[in-house]
Amino acid sequence: MTRIINEEYPLSLLLLADPSEKLVKEYLKRGQCYIFEKDDETIGVYVLLPTRPESVELVNIAVAERYQAKGIGKALVLDAIEQAKQHGYGIIEVGTGNSSIGQLALYQKCGFRITGVDRDFFTIHYEEEIVENGIVCGDMIRLAKQL
Ligand code: COA
Repeated sequence: MTRIINEEYPLSLLLLADPSEKLVKEYLKRGQCYIFEKDDETIGVYVLLPTRPESVELVNIAVAERYQAKGIGKALVLDAIEQAKQHGYGIIEVGTGNSSIGQLALYQKCGFRITGVDRDFFTIHYEEEIVENGIVCGDMIRLAKQL
């Protein structure tokens, strides 16, 4: 359902998941970007970043706003898991904000389990305060799934 691209990244989609253009551009240099298209329009994206010989991290995932809540995000997470498996990784990791309730639900529904908390990750690395669901986003919840 997805294909890899190496140029003309869908930046506006990537920024939906990560407001830091600097960090996005940084991990695009080292990671693999997969897109999902419908009628020639890119409506979904995710980025897999190798972190250690055995592990890969899902560092960005986004679905265009008008296509959200239709199952595409879940299909993309499952596609990312399959790609990681096919590339021989033993574990896939993901991190999300303590305030990202929907994303925490999505990853756990796809088999990820919480492994830890990177306290103050967002407070330290992001200039603007992030608030979602009425909750200040300061900590990163780390999740992982064995492949
Ligand atoms: N409680 C319980 N389950 C919830 C939930 C909540 N508050 N919010 C979402 N979910 C579940 C949905 O019910 C669905 O599970 P189901 O299929 O078992 O019902 C699942 O999470 C995801 O739904 P889906 O329609 O596949 O998601 P989506 O296409 O809207 O994509 C995102 C999800 C996060 C990729 C999309 O909303 C997005 O692009 N958001 C902006 C970018 C972003 O935040 N990226 C992630 C950064 S960590």
